[in-house]
Parts: sequence; structure tokens; C-alpha cells
Amino acid sequence: MSKPHDNEQSPQKPGKEMSRRQFLTYTLGGASAFMFVGPAIPMVRFAVDPLLQKKTEGKYIKVVEANKITNDPQEFTFEITQIDGWYESKPTLIAWISKDQQGNIFALSPVCKHLGCTVDWNNNPKLKDQYFCPCHGAHYTREGKQLAVARAPLDEYKVKVENGFVYLGDIIPNQHVQ
Ligand code: FES
Repeated sequence: MSKPHDNEQSPQKPGKEMSRRQFLTYTLGGASAFMFVGPAIPMVRFAVDPLLQKKTEGKYIKVVEANKITNDPQEFTFEITQIDGWYESKPTLIAWISKDQQGNIFALSPVCKHLGCTVDWNNNPKLKDQYFCPCHGAHYTREGKQLAVARAPLDEYKVKVENGFVYLGDIIPNQHVQ
């Protein structure tokens, strides 16, 4: 006489083992996903790559020999390479470079802090030794401190002097005035 359970399959415990149907579903699903997503990865990378690349941040540009810098601000222009997504441009920037009271070289941005026009040095006979903005009359001291109209000092460039040359880097808030 056989035992009562000899020919019966032991019942599956729910949630413990995968059925054949589930196994096939997962396997085919995974293979299909790989087939569709795999070739797309290089395309996605190509599309977003320029966005991941570093821009000009942290780069210094050689602008002028250090011995040409005087106490009076002088205007210098220089070109940078700017990468914005897929678009590369070479804008020309302006810096007003001079020495501070300690003899350190510093460089101001000419962008007026009122609404972004361009300031000039000593261009208003009534405002001697000042930067003046012709748009709405903002003016600034030699160190870039705002005296009227604008509510902030002129920004400055990061400066590095190396092997007798002045190099300019990123634009930062003015470090010479409060
Ligand atoms: S933009 Fe310079 S004063 Fe207005």
C-alpha cells in the first residue's frame, strides 16, 4: 500500500519560487530592454556630451606684461573661448587694469552694476579719476566702489602674475571695496 502523498507534487509556497511564465516574462523583457536601450546609449551620450564638458571656468588668459601696469587704470581687451552647449564662440572682453594702494595688480570689469552698460575711466570731465557710465550716470572710484545710481561695486577679474605677465581669470565680486 502506497503512502497517501507519494504521487502528489508538493504544493509551491506562494511568493518563494518563480513560475515558468514569470521566468520567461522577465527574461524576454530584459532582453528586449537591452536591445532597445543599448544602441540608444551612444546617441544619448552624443546629445548631452557638450553639456557635460567643462566651460571656460578656472582658465586664465595672458593679457599684458606686468611692467606695463600703472597706478592709473588702463583698458585692455582679450579674447576667451566660450563653449555653451554645442556652440563655441570667442567673445572679446575688456578689463581695466591698475595697481591698488599696496602695489598689487587688480582688474575691474567694465560692466556697470546698474543695468549693464559699459563704464569708462575719466570720460566725464566733471568726475575726475572715476569710472563713469554714460547710460544713467553711475560713477565709481578707482577701486570700483559705487558712488551713485548703481547699488554694487564693479566686479573684478581673478588676477595671476606669472613670468612677468598678467593673466586674467573668472569674474568675481569686487574684493577691494565693501
Ligand atoms: S547702466 Fe550704468 S548707469 Fe545705468
